[in-house]
Amino acid sequence: MAGENLTFSIEFILIGFSDFPNIQGFLFAIVLVIYMSILLGNGLIIVITNIDPVLHTPMYFFLKNLSFLEICYTSVMVPRMLKNLWTQNRNISFIACAVQFYFFLVFGVAECLLLAVMAFDRYVAICKPLYYSVIMNHKKQVQLLIGSWISGIPVEIQFTYQVFSLPFCGSNKLNHVFCDIPPLMKIVCGDITMSELFIFVNAVFFVIAPLLLILVSYVKIITTILKLPSAIGRHKAFSTCSSHLMVIGLFFASGMMAHWIPKSKKSKGIDKLLSLVYCIGTPMFNPLIYSLRNKDIIAALKKILPK
Ligand SMILES: *[C@@H]1O[C@H](CO)[C@@H](O)[C@H](O)[C@H]1NC(C)=O
Repeated sequence: MAGENLTFSIEFILIGFSDFPNIQGFLFAIVLVIYMSILLGNGLIIVITNIDPVLHTPMYFFLKNLSFLEICYTSVMVPRMLKNLWTQNRNISFIACAVQFYFFLVFGVAECLLLAVMAFDRYVAICKPLYYSVIMNHKKQVQLLIGSWISGIPVEIQFTYQVFSLPFCGSNKLNHVFCDIPPLMKIVCGDITMSELFIFVNAVFFVIAPLLLILVSYVKIITTILKLPSAIGRHKAFSTCSSHLMVIGLFFASGMMAHWIPKSKKSKGIDKLLSLVYCIGTPMFNPLIYSLRNKDIIAALKKILPK
């Protein structure tokens, strides 16, 4: 009976980029460099937002946590990917695959929710400036963070248990770079109604809802900014928000394209490329976008870096 047999003896094979045997070394080098820059860039944001008192505001408190989250999120997938590319041994045990699946979902949910929290923070700062320090007090900031990190946990525990207790048949090959939903759905057999329900719940509550919140916040923010009397004020408000919008756009667009566009409409290999964008692209660009476009962060960096 489906739902009863956890088949621990199974090993999966992550096909990854093995269809391009000639460029394995090159891919390894690229992914390694990107991973290093993710650790370095996000680590630097955590360090400077910790030590510079100018950056002790709610926005940077959330940004620091986003950087920390992105380190966790990429570390679920990238080290394994590097190991596979290096050893050319693509096996992944049942447990490792389930653990990867679970943490990918939990951190992915946390990222969507945290991006929504950051949009809400900008909304309050720009549209309700008089109440900002009251609404975004320290307790509220911590509550919002904890809420983002833990909301996905109960659903994803059940979802993971549900998927991995389905029988796998036909093949143990996952045509992907890590244990993600679409490749697993292709090799399970038995009744996937429950899995589809979980996918639906995740999509509605953890992707569409935060995305709507973000869009509504930014519509309000932009209308407020357009009414500002001074051009300098308008420019400053726009530049902070446009960095945030770029990060959001990249993350949601690549994630949704990889998961929701039917396979037949995409050319071969594009899935894996998109998954690389949302697992390592966003975390790589996030610190770049925030720091290169942000005067406060650049000023803070100049203070700690020798000339
Ligand atoms: C981010 O928030 C989570 C949940 O509140 C917390 O466990 C974690 O330590 C925070 N990380 C940083 C770097 O602030």
